[in-house]
Amino acid sequence: MKGIFITFEGPDGAGKTTQLNLLADYLRKAGHRVLSTREPGGTPLAEEIRGLLLSPWVEEIHGLTEVFLYAASRVQHVREKILPALAEGKIVLCDRFTDSTLAYQGYGRGIELDFLRKLNYLATGGLKPALTLLLDLPPEEGLCRGKKGKEGTARDRLELQDLDFHRRVREGFLELARQEPERIRVIDARQPVEKVFAEVLAYIAPWL
Ligand SMILES: Nc1ncnc2c1ncn2[C@@H]1O[C@H](COP(=O)(O)OP(=O)(O)OP(=O)(O)O)[C@@H](O)[C@H]1O
Ligand SMILES: [Mg+2]
Repeated sequence: MKGIFITFEGPDGAGKTTQLNLLADYLRKAGHRVLSTREPGGTPLAEEIRGLLLSPWVEEIHGLTEVFLYAASRVQHVREKILPALAEGKIVLCDRFTDSTLAYQGYGRGIELDFLRKLNYLATGGLKPALTLLLDLPPEEGLCRGKKGKEGTARDRLELQDLDFHRRVREGFLELARQEPERIRVIDARQPVEKVFAEVLAYIAPWL
């Protein structure tokens, strides 16, 4: 594997997409070949699954249904898109990945973490990010940013979960960072965009 796999994680509205786009531009200008992608999604089939996961349904989506849909989308994404790009030596930037499964479905919904880790392992074939940038933000701030930022657009199914759920997700991410401090770097996402980006660059530097 010649490329570098970097993921952005964190609660809704933390600035993942903003920072990923800034980093992709920066790296491209510096002459690197970059693939930016996102989960759930990243391939046509996986993007269809994303649509299923984010739209509000009249029936309750069982926690396991959610888990399997995310896993199915990840299988496609890793095989069809991420692994080929890494084999070509690209820097792959991914908006959410396996840590989101542990934070949302594990810490958030209470599905057994060991089971989710095994499923993640199966879905990715053991692929792990070299570096994960965790943008940490209290859920109150993130959800309110989303509302401001995407005026006129309805909140998606996950943004509509209660605040306690989002608090567990945030704590889950921080716990994961404590377990793997070398891989998962925590950045205070309450700072202005430029300050956050400066920290992103500082963490990326050793990899370039
Ligand atoms: N550091 C920041 N300070 C204040 N506002 C920010 C900051 N970073 C991003 N924003 C704004 O907050 C909103 C959400 O940012 P962004 O879409 O990048 O977050 P996200 O983590 O990708 O969210 P989601 O989980 O919903 O995809 C946008 O309107 C963006 O312009
Ligand atoms: Mg985003």
